[in-house]
Amino acid sequence: MDKGDNYEVMDISLADQGRKNLELAELNMSALMEIKKRFKKEKPLQGIRIGLALHVTKETGILIRTLIAGGADISITGCNPLSTQDDVAAALAEEGVKVWAYKGETTEDYYRYLGYVIDEKPHITIDDGCDLVSEIHINHQDLISDIICGCEETTTGIIRLKAMEENNALKYPMIAVNDNKTKHLLDNYYGTGQSTLDGILRATNMLFAGKTLVVCGYGSCGKGVSLKAKGLGANVIVCEVDNFCALQAAYDGFKVMKFEDAAALGDIFCTVTGNKHVIRLEHMKKMKNGAIMANSGHFDIEIDLKSLKEAAESERRVRPFMDEYVLGGNKLFVLGEGRLVNLAAAEGHPSEVMSTSFCGQALACEYGVKNRDKMKNQVIQLPEEIDDEIAGLQLTAMGLNIDEMTPDQVKYMSSWEEGT
Ligand SMILES: NC(=O)c1ccc[n+]([C@@H]2O[C@H](COP(=O)([O-])OP(=O)(O)OC[C@H]3O[C@@H](n4cnc5c(N)ncnc54)[C@H](O)[C@@H]3O)[C@@H](O)[C@H]2O)c1
Repeated sequence: MDKGDNYEVMDISLADQGRKNLELAELNMSALMEIKKRFKKEKPLQGIRIGLALHVTKETGILIRTLIAGGADISITGCNPLSTQDDVAAALAEEGVKVWAYKGETTEDYYRYLGYVIDEKPHITIDDGCDLVSEIHINHQDLISDIICGCEETTTGIIRLKAMEENNALKYPMIAVNDNKTKHLLDNYYGTGQSTLDGILRATNMLFAGKTLVVCGYGSCGKGVSLKAKGLGANVIVCEVDNFCALQAAYDGFKVMKFEDAAALGDIFCTVTGNKHVIRLEHMKKMKNGAIMANSGHFDIEIDLKSLKEAAESERRVRPFMDEYVLGGNKLFVLGEGRLVNLAAAEGHPSEVMSTSFCGQALACEYGVKNRDKMKNQVIQLPEEIDDEIAGLQLTAMGLNIDEMTPDQVKYMSSWEEGT
């Protein structure tokens, strides 16, 4: 591990590769770069300390540079022990960013690093999964009076925050960046769809065509994973607990059944529910020899790995990010230790999709600062105009033009008198 006054990273000599990856990310994040240009001129975050617990990837690096251009002081750690890109962390450390993260963090280091970010006394927190917010609420309540707001990146974090709000436990306003259309309907759907398969492919190099993939959860992420796998020729089975989502899966042409029935049919299983113990030992006992399990939900609790470890006759690593367990004589495989497979075994979402997600984070910080006296200690959604602005920036980045309504159409759309 390499340590400096303001960093702890795996290997600082990886910085050059990290800079090259950041350069590539910039090329594909034009919408965010537009915001960076404006932030550089207007300095909307001057004097604001922002603490982040986000996947330390090249795309997050571009978000950090955008926030710094806006005048912010940044400190960052990861939000998952297996998702840090060590070269990017090294490059950020060399740029002078306060960064504490490495791929393969122990639980102890994970929480020690969260502590370092908290020690910087952030005015704004940016979280992916709500660990920073919950640490502050549990162990550092003294800091809360100086916190303007927090911004949350993912569905699991929003679920935790809504539970806090419900219990009157939420002590500062939280902006639900995940709930922007330009986040969950793009990032969770197209991003998780593609990068989850990328993670499974890099870990296994298997052929999807002709295989049976069982997808647990048909929300934004599960829809993306199912669609992309269908495109590769897989037979997709969807398992759900929500009637409407299950119906959508059936109407999209997928088989829908209980997981206990799908367990014996699947070649690959992928959980994307945000729930715990979706794949349990009783299911694993029914799986075929050679079955592969992966998770792309936020936490590593969707597959009950603990019970598998206890029951397995043997356990060994057969490739990086691919562990074999022998259960009842059958070989079962778990990818990326049950952590989100797209970040553990691949590089997370492509830059283009993170560009719109992180436009949401940058604009949420600006919104928070501008509206600091108006926000309540609730989970807040950004105004629709901001979502629309982000979509517009991305269309421009892609060189696409769309139509505008005529004045007559504008009038028609806001009137009720005109009928048949
Ligand atoms: N891997 C990534 O990069 C990435 C990106 C975005 C979101 N996420 C995470 O993925 C998870 C899903 O996010 P989402 O936006 O799709 O959420 P969502 O709420 O849109 O969908 C989750 C779906 O899972 C279903 N579900 C819940 N419990 C289930 C169970 N026991 N069995 C089957 N289905 C069940 C729900 O009914 C729901 O339809 C969250 O943990 C989120 O934080 C991961």
